[in-house]
Amino acid sequence: MSNESLANLMTETRKFAPPAEVAADANVTAAAYEAAADDRLAFWAKQARRLSWETAPTQTLDWSNPPFAKWFADGRLNVAYNCVDRHVEAGHGDRVAIHFEGEPGDSRAITYAELQREVARAAHALTELGVRTGDRVAIYMPMLPETVIAMLACARIGAPHSVVFGAFSADALATRIEDADARVVITSDGGYRRGAPSALKPAVDEALTRPGAANVRHVLVVRRTGQDIPWTEGRDVWWHELTERQPDEHTPEAFDAEHPLFILYTSGTTGRPKGILHTSAGYLTQVAFTHHAVFDLKPETDVFWCTADVGWVTGHSYIVYGPLANGATEVLYEGTPNTPHNGRWWEIVQKYGVTILYTAPTAIRTCMKWGDDIPAQFNLESLRILGSVGEPINPEAWIWYRKHIGGDRTPVVDTWWQTETGGIMISPLPGVTAAKPGAAQVPLPGISATVVDDDGAEVGNGSGGYLALTEPWPSMLRTIWGDDQRFLDTYWSRFEGKYFAGDGAKKDAEGDIWLLGRVDDVMLVSGHNISTTEVESALVSHPRIAEAAVVGATDPQTTQAICAFVILRGGAAEEEGLVEELRAHVSKELGPIAKPKRILPVDELPKTRSGKIMRRLLRDVAENRELGDVTTLTDSTVMDLIQRKLPTAA
Ligand code: WT7
Repeated sequence: MSNESLANLMTETRKFAPPAEVAADANVTAAAYEAAADDRLAFWAKQARRLSWETAPTQTLDWSNPPFAKWFADGRLNVAYNCVDRHVEAGHGDRVAIHFEGEPGDSRAITYAELQREVARAAHALTELGVRTGDRVAIYMPMLPETVIAMLACARIGAPHSVVFGAFSADALATRIEDADARVVITSDGGYRRGAPSALKPAVDEALTRPGAANVRHVLVVRRTGQDIPWTEGRDVWWHELTERQPDEHTPEAFDAEHPLFILYTSGTTGRPKGILHTSAGYLTQVAFTHHAVFDLKPETDVFWCTADVGWVTGHSYIVYGPLANGATEVLYEGTPNTPHNGRWWEIVQKYGVTILYTAPTAIRTCMKWGDDIPAQFNLESLRILGSVGEPINPEAWIWYRKHIGGDRTPVVDTWWQTETGGIMISPLPGVTAAKPGAAQVPLPGISATVVDDDGAEVGNGSGGYLALTEPWPSMLRTIWGDDQRFLDTYWSRFEGKYFAGDGAKKDAEGDIWLLGRVDDVMLVSGHNISTTEVESALVSHPRIAEAAVVGATDPQTTQAICAFVILRGGAAEEEGLVEELRAHVSKELGPIAKPKRILPVDELPKTRSGKIMRRLLRDVAENRELGDVTTLTDSTVMDLIQRKLPTAA
């Protein structure tokens, strides 16, 4: 990222101080930064004492064989006991752990005492199916209470789970079952999606026909929709039949702090998916601490809602392990935000009195597109903290979120992290940080992050480069499952002794960190590095634009040319001269070098199920190429629409 373009690109100057009442009663104050700076390891050793240990650790970090870290290595605990039983033992058995809201409108409140019994039965059930400590279990489920129960049951018996997102194909499931060598698959007949039951089990059957899945002994099937499904006698087992006859008490066994807790596959832009390995105590320490600090959780009074799918790391860390380790009451919603109407989310916030909401910029922009009048129909006064994760949030979306969802009163925390980091790494603290729309800003207490140049040297304030993490952290990935070399090559070989996150970043004049998207999303235009995120932000700051996706297309004159795909607000037809006006607008906001060569209005943008724009496919369109793999798109017909609209796109 060249500095001259950065100077142009840094235009956001708004700041929002923490509300006095949040600051006055905040779980974590500025003192935490000082304590952690004084003695980082002592700070984390103290955070580890949030957990209940069978054997308390005497060691904090073993970094004798970097980058293979061991945290709290001589300690022993049970993760599920920490997320469930200990809250019951502390007298909170009657507290609701999960308010489940099904898409058709059915609901179910599960207290910590009930959760304890359900997890106990499921743990016995897995044992009866022959699952032993260390065996891998694949979980391929919709968003149901049983999904959480299944994960906790695996954790309870020390069987690492590998959750595969329920909308992935049989192929994707088969690859992941094979790579992890899973022995049991937990699934459901189906789930409710966009107003109709959608089947899951047939994809499991198909995946299990592949030779790589030959070691799967059993498929445990939760009944959700009651639809007809194929059944393989002897292999397939109904969840309710098996769990109902199990005892509802189960003695938790303690495992080593570094016992594998789960594998979660990240797609990666190229090559086969990487199985990111997370282990027990360090992971749980960091997700519990960050959930407490970043969301300021008060377990007695707050109602937390993270809208992610449990199939993503956000769901693992901030639906399952973080909130439950902290004894939170939380919402779990099965369906889509617009079924049966565009206000469904806000109706849920109102119904349960949600106080903390954690969602993704793509969802926020979609709600912006649907219009301010939708959330305005619901009472959202219970909300006190809003969070964002998944990609850089454009200042316009940040401001809209705060204003229309947060009533112009709630702090917004923009949290940067990755599947690999396990937990939140860079984020404002709601009671401490004066927030800047669009910036994740500061590494959390105990986390060391910086921005470096091509040679790995730290850049000064006002400069840009790559985000790097400079010290190990408790919830860091331990390796890529079965491939230590790929772990070294991918994350630890770019900069000596530092973790390479793969994100572009810059530091503003005050030293706050702004994330600029994946490094592959930085364009080279006439010798200038320009981030796709910043051009997209400039575009959506124009009143006519609801969403924008920007790619660099190969160009004989300028190396790459900026090509923007935009969705117009209100879906209205494009008027004469609009494209010119938009180009001029970007030029004014960011400087002439960032002016898109082409701007193409479209109806939809191609997105993965985690909400990330598939720029790779748009680049294919912009460069007139055959489309690459579209299997991870939520809706692959989007690409047909875009291509049909743009016969001359190149
Ligand atoms: C990538 C990680 C972390 C859970 C969901 C995604 C991008 C994530 C932010 C943010 C800017 C962000 C980065 C990162 N990202 N949060 N607040 N600001 N970028 O997990 O699928 O592993 O993706 O998401 O590019 O590297 P993931």
